[in-house]
Amino acid sequence: MVSHLLLAFSAIIFSAFSPRAVGAEDLSAKCLALKSNLQLENTTILDVSYIATPTNVSTAGSCQSTAPVTAAPLCRVYFVINTTDTSAVHAEAWLPDTWFGRFLSLGNGGLNGCIDYVGLDYGASLHFATVSSDNGHDGASGLPFLDAPEVINDFAFRAVHVEAVIGKQLVAAYYNTPAENSYFLGCSTGGRQGTQAALRFPEDFDGILAGAPATDFNHLQGWEGLLGHYIGAVDPNSSAKAEASPKFITPELWAIISAEILRQCDALDGLVDGIITEPDDCDFQPDVLLCHTNKAANQTTGCLSHVQVEALKNIYSPLFGADGQFLYPRYSPGAEADPFAASIFGGTIFQFSADWERYAILNVTEHDFTNFSVQDIALFDAINPGGVATFDGDMSAFRERGGKFITYHGRRDPLISSTNSKRVYDLISHTLSLPPAQMDDFYRLFLIPGMGHCFGGLGPTNFGQGIVATTEGVKNDTAHNILLALVDWVEGGAAPATIIGSDGSGPERTHCRYPMRSVWNGTVWVCEE
Ligand SMILES: *[C@@H]1O[C@H](CO)[C@@H](O)[C@H](O)[C@H]1NC(C)=O
Ligand SMILES: *[C@@H]1O[C@H](CO)[C@@H](O)[C@H](O)[C@H]1NC(C)=O
Ligand SMILES: *[C@@H]1O[C@H](CO)[C@@H](O)[C@H](O)[C@H]1NC(C)=O
Ligand SMILES: *[C@@H]1O[C@H](CO)[C@@H](O)[C@H](O)[C@H]1NC(C)=O
Ligand SMILES: *[C@@H]1O[C@H](CO)[C@@H](O)[C@H](O)[C@H]1NC(C)=O
Ligand SMILES: *[C@@H]1O[C@H](CO)[C@@H](O)[C@H](O)[C@H]1NC(C)=O
Ligand SMILES: *[C@@H]1O[C@H](CO)[C@@H](O)[C@H](O)[C@H]1NC(C)=O
Ligand SMILES: *[C@@H]1O[C@H](CO)[C@@H](O)[C@H](O)[C@H]1NC(C)=O
Ligand SMILES: *[C@@H]1O[C@H](CO)[C@@H](O)[C@H](O)[C@H]1NC(C)=O
Repeated sequence: MVSHLLLAFSAIIFSAFSPRAVGAEDLSAKCLALKSNLQLENTTILDVSYIATPTNVSTAGSCQSTAPVTAAPLCRVYFVINTTDTSAVHAEAWLPDTWFGRFLSLGNGGLNGCIDYVGLDYGASLHFATVSSDNGHDGASGLPFLDAPEVINDFAFRAVHVEAVIGKQLVAAYYNTPAENSYFLGCSTGGRQGTQAALRFPEDFDGILAGAPATDFNHLQGWEGLLGHYIGAVDPNSSAKAEASPKFITPELWAIISAEILRQCDALDGLVDGIITEPDDCDFQPDVLLCHTNKAANQTTGCLSHVQVEALKNIYSPLFGADGQFLYPRYSPGAEADPFAASIFGGTIFQFSADWERYAILNVTEHDFTNFSVQDIALFDAINPGGVATFDGDMSAFRERGGKFITYHGRRDPLISSTNSKRVYDLISHTLSLPPAQMDDFYRLFLIPGMGHCFGGLGPTNFGQGIVATTEGVKNDTAHNILLALVDWVEGGAAPATIIGSDGSGPERTHCRYPMRSVWNGTVWVCEE
């Protein structure tokens, strides 16, 4: 009895004089107890630690070795979810002491395989209970797909689902109450995962933020491979054959091509600033770069041969299949100048395309890409493992349950055409018979002039998308931070009409939602119908 009173008394003292310390102590003990207390279906808790102050922590898996934790204090939980007898998803939850009652799931990138530690820290810093997974395999290569159909299924659709289901249970157990709202944030493959969640698991998230989505995945992989193949790439491991090919385009020539593209198209948007606001308006004519071999003007350097001009015409034209059916939009003029374009045009077959064909489609370790063509894409389509294509206009279930979907895409994306995001918007609009005014009720696409793949590029392209450290200098309000804008929309506030990009120092730019266009009115960029 006495000891009970004493305990009660000391608790009152602590809560009266040092409430935060008591809270932190409670949470730290509660956090560490998860290791033995928590029983979740198919799940093993591998490690738990309470992080009281900002620090750097070591990470599991092969993607990186350390990660910064600026969002402390938080509880860090590392766990594995068995998805089948032959597959498992490893994941981490970062559970901040100061929790605003929201759950956030993160996506992956490329063919990985990597827990997103930047995203975990970002989500926790905005007071989300944040979960990120390895997408069902470790590392950035596609090799784990070899002879592993269930690992492919995790990548194609399942990891994002179990991450949400188990993640929410973990959050509810830790905070003694379920999250009030659930969100998803990802870009590239993460954008595809968010799209897949809306299509196949519409109950998992109330709000989805899906950047530069790698949707129509099989066609995308084929297209990315073909882009390099047009200029002679035949080998994923060596650029030697491409460099010896008359079709090959060197970095020096690409610089000349980019300058010519800007000469032809930069002014179309009313401002000569190096940014082609609407690359779909740019009807680039490469013929003017042909070498003149007549006697009068026999220029042979800094110009293109006929086969090089033909290659450019292929690159900047839409891709059609063997039967003439549309497969994928063309490469965006201007995007070739982004540094990441080298992974496509550097002379090797694009690594993800090669890995996808070898390991996931053909189940072989070696493959000769000499005759890579739309026939390969037809094979990707026929197999479409795990429904990875993620190209379906029927988002009705997500819409009807009140879900909100925000997507964005850089117009200078060197890896995934932003025109495809318009195509997906139009597909949903057409499938659900919703004109833009009604699409606006649940699905908004922001096109970001000048931005590369998910972040960076030219102009003010930071808006809280949370990929790498792009949030520095971004105001944490709903006008500047697209994740907070999504939260506001889901939780009863206004839907974002625009999103303002910053770059920390220079002028901001208001980014428009499709089908509105960004127009220079002589003084500022404005959004017009
Ligand atoms: C997950 O699978 C591993 C390896 O097959 C097994 O040892 C473990 O017991 C399984 N865990 C759960 C929770 O099913
Ligand atoms: C974490 O590591 C980075 C890079 O090495 C360093 O700049 C930073 O100061 C470290 N943070 C802490 C809290 O130790
Ligand atoms: C647990 O795994 C089994 C198959 O191994 C699956 O049927 C079940 O849906 C899983 N549960 C969760 C919550 O994922
Ligand atoms: C944004 O910053 C304000 C002021 O610092 C703070 O009150 C608010 O909690 C922050 N919002 C989030 C979601 O972190
Ligand atoms: C993959 O190839 C190996 C070796 O040929 C074979 O044993 C295995 O059954 C194949 N797996 C699948 C899923 O086709
Ligand atoms: C090609 O590269 C991949 C991945 O970088 C590697 O796993 C493979 O062994 C390489 N193959 C050859 C023939 O060098
Ligand atoms: C054409 O090229 C040849 C050999 O490179 C050179 O000698 C000649 O002066 C050039 N003619 C003109 C008109 O530039
Ligand atoms: C590529 O196509 C040519 C012409 O049809 C054929 O002779 C060659 O064997 C093919 N190479 C491969 C690796 O399929
Ligand atoms: C351009 O837009 C701004 C902001 O709406 C406005 O203040 C300005 O008058 C406009 N300029 C012209 C030339 O229309």
